[in-house]
Amino acid sequence: MSNNALYTDLSGYYDLMCADINYQAQSNSAHRFHQLFGNGGKRHLDLACGTGPHIAFLQKEGYVCSGVDINQPMLELAKLRCPDGQFTLGNMCELEVSEPFNLITCFLYSIHYSGDLIQLKNCIASVYKALSDGGVFCFNAVDKQHIDNRLTATHSVAYQQSVFTFGSSWHYSGEGEKQTLKLSIEKTDESSTQRWTDEHPMVAIRFDELQDLLAPYFDVTMFEHEHDKIAPWQGQSGNAIFVCVKKAGLN
Ligand SMILES: C[S@@+](CC[C@H](N)C(=O)[O-])C[C@H]1O[C@@H](n2cnc3c(N)ncnc32)[C@H](O)[C@@H]1O
Repeated sequence: MSNNALYTDLSGYYDLMCADINYQAQSNSAHRFHQLFGNGGKRHLDLACGTGPHIAFLQKEGYVCSGVDINQPMLELAKLRCPDGQFTLGNMCELEVSEPFNLITCFLYSIHYSGDLIQLKNCIASVYKALSDGGVFCFNAVDKQHIDNRLTATHSVAYQQSVFTFGSSWHYSGEGEKQTLKLSIEKTDESSTQRWTDEHPMVAIRFDELQDLLAPYFDVTMFEHEHDKIAPWQGQSGNAIFVCVKKAGLN
């Protein structure tokens, strides 16, 4: 199944699946990082924007928001949620923009959808080009060395006479540049339970490798993966927020 098909099937359930994610806190943290590190401009682009939850919150902070996603059904939902947003169907690894942005975000580990290291490098280089001077690229990532294949995050939501249970987990073989995101949906009603599962290949990387890829383009600061406070990364956790300020003079 292609990346596109995964989210086409999922798009109708996507917001239910993400019902326990605190998008407001994530968006607030991006806004605070931009206030602290950025150039004050309000042009914002969300990569792999999905159904547009971050855009909805950042618009409330006064940003003029755009979103890019590779999946049209997800973009249709984003347009319904954010009628004032500008949404483009496209690949974040081949980003081309007509006017630079001040803040570019990419959340829910979506940068790993780059797929492999070459595409990840392309993504980083194209984000650099798409930012204005002193602009900020803010995203979260997972270190492949810290992936515990035994862990699954699950939550359940009641919706239209059914109970939906959503599961997600990382799987990394321990070698190479590929990891898998495993997703499952279970829908239970009075008479039956249906189960839907999928696996999605993503790029696997260590944080020191990721820092090396970013370093030519950005001054990088890493923070603990806690969206309600600003805490510098202590070097232990396998999840982190990367705040990357565009270096001058490479274009
Ligand atoms: C886990 S969802 C995250 C959506 C949103 N950022 C959020 O936090 O809810 C991943 C999204 O990445 C999109 N995607 C996957 N590969 C992509 C690519 N190469 N370029 C742009 N979008 C991509 C998918 O279509 C999907 O909407």
